[in-house]
Amino acid sequence: NKFATILAGGGGTRFWPLSRQEIPKQLLNISGNDIMLNDTIERFKGIIPQENTVIVTNRTQAVLLESIMHSSVLKHNILIEPVARNTAASILFAAMSIEKSHGDSLMVVLPSDHYITDETQFRLTLDEACTVAMETDNIVTIGIKPTFASTGYGYIAYDQKAVSAQPVAVYEVAEFVEKPNFQKAQGYLASGNYLWNSGIFIWKTSVIIEHFQRYLPRLYKMMLPIGEALGTEQEADVLESVYPTLQNISIDYGILERSDEVVVLSGQFGWNDIGSWDALGAIFPPDDEGNIIKANHIGIDTRHSIIYGNGRLITTIGVEGFIIADTGDALLICPKDKAQSVKEIVDLLKDKG
Ligand code: GDD
Ligand code: MG
Repeated sequence: NKFATILAGGGGTRFWPLSRQEIPKQLLNISGNDIMLNDTIERFKGIIPQENTVIVTNRTQAVLLESIMHSSVLKHNILIEPVARNTAASILFAAMSIEKSHGDSLMVVLPSDHYITDETQFRLTLDEACTVAMETDNIVTIGIKPTFASTGYGYIAYDQKAVSAQPVAVYEVAEFVEKPNFQKAQGYLASGNYLWNSGIFIWKTSVIIEHFQRYLPRLYKMMLPIGEALGTEQEADVLESVYPTLQNISIDYGILERSDEVVVLSGQFGWNDIGSWDALGAIFPPDDEGNIIKANHIGIDTRHSIIYGNGRLITTIGVEGFIIADTGDALLICPKDKAQSVKEIVDLLKDKG
């Protein structure tokens, strides 16, 4: 049994004002193709049976999500969290649900906020990752060669001697570091020994559940009543009372950094977590001035900027290295190197109610 679990409950706050609490990043059509969630579902067609697609989302997003998501996803495979409690809880929720209905199964975890080019390589890598996860009791990750000192990704140090080389190189992981500071990220980049964590994980449900028992025992114990109630009349009530009390931790900090049974496949496809405005360059090549303009815009001396509008004319003079995003009801102006701080604006707005 092979299952895909798509994590689709993140806020995407670094894309404010385009993304909002109700309309997070994965439900936006940023690439001009389709919403990111549907692109994700399309991507593993043929590798994982369509009826085995599990989506984990949360209540504030569920209605909108169900209305724009591919109809191929079966209703009973949409797991709805009463509140968002980060990726560790989401993943355990899905693992317990899959194991309960189908026994020990292969589970592929996919974020829904990625832009991937060269799908043939992607599929080859994913297929091989499934084989490795099936034949071993490892946590299998897919790494991407880093191109800049990002502080928004996990870094994977790997043993240079490949465990196997064909069709995709597989390495043992020496160290996993989630979101290092800039200095460390620079060092990792320079060393040539690290890959970015793509956020795609492959394992058996039995393997990941065992990891939860070992590394996140508190979360695991709190989740047990949910596991028991799944598929029964009590499910909704138990979810309602237990979920808000769960530990808020990502799978990266909670398990990947702690386990020493991790391997990494070196992904050779184009990959980008379109996580913040400054990442738009991965989808839209900048023009001769280094600008990415998705707006009705006229500028003088405007360079290396990202300008996103909703129709109304935007004019700029002498603007360099800025993000300007106008959605009609809100306007963001921010230097490109502060793109990660956009989420702090969202926090401020939340505090203000
Ligand atoms: N259902 C659900 N519930 N989904 C969630 C929740 C939650 O509480 N929180 C996040 N997600 C979803 C997001 O929608 C996204 O698809 C995925 O889980 C990953 O969460 P992000 O918040 O986007 O994580 P990140 O980008 O900061 O970091 C992760 O991905 C990077 C690569 O994109 C980490 O795994 C990094 O190590 C990695 O490099
Ligand atoms: Mg992300």
